[in-house]
Amino acid sequence: MNGGNSQKTDALSSGAIPGEIDDAARAILDEFNSRRRGMRPGRFIPAPPKALREKSDIALYLEKISVGFDGFKALNNLTLYVDEGELRCIIGPNGAGKTTMMDVITGKTKPDRGSVWFTDEYNLLAMDEVSIAGAGICRKFQKPSVFEELTVLHNLELSLKGEKSVWSTLRARLSGEDEDFLEMVLERIRLQEQHDLAAGKLSHGQKQWLEIGMLLMQKPRMLLLDEPAAGMSPGEIERTVELLRDLEGEQVILLVEHDMAFVRAVARKVTVLHQGSVLAEGDMDAVRDNPAVIEAYLGTEQC
Ligand SMILES: Nc1ncnc2c1ncn2[C@@H]1O[C@H](COP(=O)(O)OP(=O)(O)OP(=O)(O)O)[C@@H](O)[C@H]1O
Ligand SMILES: [Mg+2]
Repeated sequence: MNGGNSQKTDALSSGAIPGEIDDAARAILDEFNSRRRGMRPGRFIPAPPKALREKSDIALYLEKISVGFDGFKALNNLTLYVDEGELRCIIGPNGAGKTTMMDVITGKTKPDRGSVWFTDEYNLLAMDEVSIAGAGICRKFQKPSVFEELTVLHNLELSLKGEKSVWSTLRARLSGEDEDFLEMVLERIRLQEQHDLAAGKLSHGQKQWLEIGMLLMQKPRMLLLDEPAAGMSPGEIERTVELLRDLEGEQVILLVEHDMAFVRAVARKVTVLHQGSVLAEGDMDAVRDNPAVIEAYLGTEQC
């Protein structure tokens, strides 16, 4: 009856794996190898959390995240949900944990505990930085990192998904579809007139827009922007508000910002972080009048 199985087991234990090993034997071997690595098959990829399964419009799901640095908790039981297409502003005094939160989302820092999902498709804690970026989660750091010698157009072309090297990208002709998309991005970032200008010649604000454009070329599903308005002139800030408004609804945008006038102009929902946790959440007026927020900001800056 089970002679077949015992033959397979014999073959496995002797180390001689027959050429025509069938699926059942392969399953036994997989199980054996998994146990040897201290893992059980199917156990290490948790199912999406219940809240995500029940509420399908949550895009970003951070649940009870803690990050410690030598005993100091940079994030402390942080829970935050952001909906599909939402533009969420994250504010908070210096050291509140805003950058650490972005580090966790992008895979730079792995938390001590908690879960992080992007929709019910991606368990971000099980992914590395490269695969998180590949899933469409794109981050812009405060300092623009454009290629200064290349034109605005070439900077954008380089960011098209799937391109391998600078030279192959610059030599290759774009498809009509790609050209249309590039044109649309140029318009969005308000740099049509400067398309042939070396990026190094742009103003600080224009460089920030170009970098946002380079992220848009990758058709992101979520944009993480760390202080995009820092160092901009008032006119540039105004245009950045318009730019973000244009982008709203197309992807999730998580915006960390200190400039309260800018936040007021752009934000619908604001989350205030303090000491690694959410202190308050709501529209700008509600959080500004919240006594706990006023106290957290006292002595640091004006909200
Ligand atoms: N690698 C690290 N090692 C030790 N402590 C760290 C590390 N990274 C961050 N911290 C600490 O964690 C806390 C949160 O830092 P984080 O940079 O996330 O704050 P932030 O809200 O971004 O502040 P800011 O508004 O100044 O940018 C700070 O007290 C910081 O000193
Ligand atoms: Mg920071």
